[in-house]
Amino acid sequence: MILVTGGAGFIGANFVLDWLAIHDEPVINLDKLTYAGNPETLQSLQGDARHTLVQGDIGDTALVNQLLSTHQPRAVVNFAAESHVDRSIHGPGEFIQTNIVGTFNLLESVRGYWSGLPEDHRDGGAAPTKGNFRFLHVSTDEVYGSLKKDEPAFTESSHIEPNSPYSASKAASDHLVRAWHHTYGLPVLTTNCSNNYGPYHFPEKLIPLMIVNALAGKNLPVYGDGQQIRDWLYVKDHCSAIRRVLEAGRLGETYNVGGWNEKANIDIVHTVCALLDELRPRADGQPYKGQITYVTDRPGHDRRYAIDARKLEREFGWKPAETFESGIRKTVQWYLDHPDWVAHVQSGAYRDWVQKQYA
Ligand code: NAD
Ligand code: TYD
Repeated sequence: MILVTGGAGFIGANFVLDWLAIHDEPVINLDKLTYAGNPETLQSLQGDARHTLVQGDIGDTALVNQLLSTHQPRAVVNFAAESHVDRSIHGPGEFIQTNIVGTFNLLESVRGYWSGLPEDHRDGGAAPTKGNFRFLHVSTDEVYGSLKKDEPAFTESSHIEPNSPYSASKAASDHLVRAWHHTYGLPVLTTNCSNNYGPYHFPEKLIPLMIVNALAGKNLPVYGDGQQIRDWLYVKDHCSAIRRVLEAGRLGETYNVGGWNEKANIDIVHTVCALLDELRPRADGQPYKGQITYVTDRPGHDRRYAIDARKLEREFGWKPAETFESGIRKTVQWYLDHPDWVAHVQSGAYRDWVQKQYA
């Protein structure tokens, strides 16, 4: 049994779906179901006894304590977070609350549970023990700040220099996780991953927003000059890296996750437009790139992120399965094949559905 938090969001849901496709080990999925949490993504698991979705907050100590003592997980994988940089600029409060205070409360609950576990197997069984329990914290490369054009990619020993309320709150949570290991001996692992893309990505982030807006005939808003660089990884490759670190990561270590795919935003938008031209041409025969509109830049916009993932490769032989070309094609095709999922997350129908499920 593992406890996953934020498993109704983009990466967490992909992780839960992949986990249960590979393992028979059950998952308790604790998710607050904010605007970004979507139980519809997990619909294929309805009636599957291996998956239990619990609506709740990682900061709700009573609830988390009860889940831990009832289900006795051997690991906690913490995806739960507020995750959108633009939202953090307009309203940082929720980011402080969930990403910092929530992670603190979760760590305290987990520490209480972990300290009550037996030292070791008395009978060679598979029950959790102090020694085999793991707390894996899922974080971002944005904690390292912004790179200049010719600087080398972020390694695990790069300085932590977050620039947005989002990245500052994630960096704070990473520090808490580190301190809970150093001070209390909690067996923690942290992953810092580059930008993800793929199925079930909420259409406020660059790639799904461009696909959805293009199909709707809307503008494709590119911030500033569009030359900001992000390092892109297909979400299922991120999930495989997390599984690997959970299995074999060295306690207290951080692992950078990335696929060596640095791309300027404008090139991403052009790629999405070209794929749509091929797969779903506009009715008027015009190219989608005609919808690109340059808009005011994001305040404090980080210029470049790039991840050096050689530690993960060296220690575990981990490599991404998708190239950017294969992953982006799959992603565009997925959005073309799932207009209902998109329509629901963009409409009140989604809220109604959540309320009906969790009344
Ligand atoms: P997301 O916004 O799609 O999903 C976040 C999920 O957490 C949602 O289901 C939401 O309901 C849930 N949640 C929010 N607050 C909660 C709370 N207080 N208690 C319980 N659940 C709560 O985010 P994502 O893109 O899937 O990111 C998941 C994690 O991965 C985050 O920690 C993020 O910082 C990290 N990360 C994301 C990326 C990326 O490119 N998206 C890259 C690297 C790391
Ligand atoms: P985003 O998907 O929000 O991820 P992050 O800010 O965590 O990297 O944005 C990716 C890049 O795309 C970032 O440089 C901001 C830019 N961007 C746009 O140019 N237009 C948009 O509409 C969005 C949402 C992002």
